[in-house]
Amino acid sequence: MSQASSVVGAARNALPGLRLVAGGRSREDAAHTDAPPDADHLCVGIRCRHEHEHDEEKRLAESRRPWWVRARDRVLEDLDAAVERDPAATSRAQMAVVSPGLHAIWAHRVAHSMWQKEGLRLPARVLSNVARTATGVEIHPGATIGRRFFIDHGMGVVIGETAEVGDDVMLYHGVTLGGRTLNKGKRHPTLGNGITVGAGAKILGAVELGDGAQIGANSVVVKDVPGNHVATGIPARHRALADREDPYEAMFAEPALWI
Ligand SMILES: CC(C)(COP(=O)(O)OP(=O)(O)OC[C@H]1O[C@@H](n2cnc3c(N)ncnc32)[C@H](O)[C@@H]1OP(=O)(O)O)[C@@H](O)C(=O)NCCC(=O)NCCS
Repeated sequence: MSQASSVVGAARNALPGLRLVAGGRSREDAAHTDAPPDADHLCVGIRCRHEHEHDEEKRLAESRRPWWVRARDRVLEDLDAAVERDPAATSRAQMAVVSPGLHAIWAHRVAHSMWQKEGLRLPARVLSNVARTATGVEIHPGATIGRRFFIDHGMGVVIGETAEVGDDVMLYHGVTLGGRTLNKGKRHPTLGNGITVGAGAKILGAVELGDGAQIGANSVVVKDVPGNHVATGIPARHRALADREDPYEAMFAEPALWI
C-alpha cells in the first residue's frame, strides 16, 4: 500500500464524516451523506425527505446537549482532525499544547461567538489580536469557519471578515483568504467542504471554491474553482480531478501542491 493510500485510509477511519470522494457521486451516494442537497447532489423523493427529517432530529438532539459537552466534543474532533493531518503529530495532548493552528481556531470560535453580540465586538477584536500575537494567525472574528478546521504550522495565515469556510478544510502557513476591494459587504472567499489550500496560496475576492477543491502552494486564485478541481499557478488555472480520483490522492500526484 502506498503512503498516500495509508494516509487516506487513516483519514477515513478517523473521520468518517470526511468527504473524500471526487466527482461522479450517484444519487445513492448523495442520499447517504450528511451533506445538504446541492445542484449536483440530487436528492429526490421520500428517501431525501427522511434524510432531512433525520438531519433536523440530529440538530435538535445536538442543541439539547449541555454547551460544555458540545464544546468538549468539538475540541476533541478538532484534535483528531489535527492528529490525522499532521504527520509529525504523536498524540492529542501534544497537539493541544504545541499546535498554533489549533490555538488560533479555538480563540476564533470564542471571538466569533462574541462578534454575534453588538456590544462585544470590540472585545472580540481584542481577543482576535491577542490570538494573532500568540499564533501568527489572523482570523477576523466575523469570519465563519466550519468544523474540523486545521491550519498546519499556522504562521502568516490571514482570514478576512466575510470569509466563509466549510467543514474539514485545511490550510497551510501563509495562506490568505483576502479581499480585492475596499467596499464593505461580501468581499472575501467562500470555501466549501473538504478543501486543502497549499502553503502561501492567496485566494482573493468573493470567489467560490467548490467541495473537495485543492489549491496549490503559492497559487493566486482570483476566479471560482469548481468542486473536485485542482487549481495551481498565478493566476490559478484549474483541472478536474480524474473520475473518482481521491482529492487527497491528487495532492500526492500534483507536485505543485507541495512546492
Ligand atoms: C492585481 C489586482 C490589483 C487586479 O485587480 P483588477 O484590475 O480588478 O483585476 P481583474 O479582475 O480585472 O483581472 C485582470 C486579469 O488579471 C488577473 N489577475 C487578477 N489578479 C491577479 C493576481 N493577483 N495575480 C495574477 N493575476 C491576476 C485576472 O485573472 C485577469 O486575467 P484575465 O484577463 O486573463 O481573465 C488584484 O486582483 C489584486 O491582486 N489585488 C491585491 C489584493 C490583496 O492583496 N488583498 C489582500 C487582502 S488581505
